[in-house]
Amino acid sequence: MEQSWSAEGYANHARFVSDLGEGAFAWLGPKPGEVILDLGCGDGALTERIAAAGASVVGVDSSPDMVEAARARGLDVRVGDAAALNFDAEFDAVFSNAALHWVPQADEVARGVVRALRPGGRFVAEFGGFGNVAAIVTAMMAAARHFGGDPALAHPWYFPAPEEYGRVLQRAGFTVNRAALIPRPTPLPTGIEGWLSTFRAPFFSQFHGTKRDKVLAFVVDSLRPSLCGVEGGWIADYVRLRIEARL
Ligand code: BEZ
Repeated sequence: MEQSWSAEGYANHARFVSDLGEGAFAWLGPKPGEVILDLGCGDGALTERIAAAGASVVGVDSSPDMVEAARARGLDVRVGDAAALNFDAEFDAVFSNAALHWVPQADEVARGVVRALRPGGRFVAEFGGFGNVAAIVTAMMAAARHFGGDPALAHPWYFPAPEEYGRVLQRAGFTVNRAALIPRPTPLPTGIEGWLSTFRAPFFSQFHGTKRDKVLAFVVDSLRPSLCGVEGGWIADYVRLRIEARL
């Protein structure tokens, strides 16, 4: 089963993802009159902020449900694959928040971003960096081994270190201006179960019936000592990679 996105599920369990995009938005610094591509725009919450800054913005997302939600905000948003962009020298900047950890074909993405930019254009991205959700991944992998499941389904993501991703961008033709790996303990409004069901449904769907319930209980119990605060709120072990590069 592939990861799929529902705009409603995302809004309920993961609105904090776009709310936490402020730092990346500040690095982008959109200006009136600029033409900007928002890559992996989700339901358009940050795309709308870019438009409100006076830029002309196009969004791309692989999820039709998210694209529909973004269009309902009156935005120009298209269904598309970040690893197969077909824009040609159209944008002053490409922006991406909390999306590229879903796309392991990093070189293809970077080459598509280069093609999409005008000469001198900039790329500002933030996504999961090295060590992101490490405790959560480790707990799922232990559960897979314990219950006879596929551990690979616990970790489909791309979480590079800054130096590693910098080399990807340099290979594509960019000069990296700044990069940071940012630990960001993130409170989960609907707890760890809401997070797991939103972001890792394919892992749990490999188990059925009562076994599935036991796997979920095993993962939650394993994570409680490190991710559940003294007042009972869950905090995810997020680590972000933020980077700015120019042509
Ligand atoms: C993240 O935003 O870091 C993230 C989202 C979903 C799964 C894993 C990481």
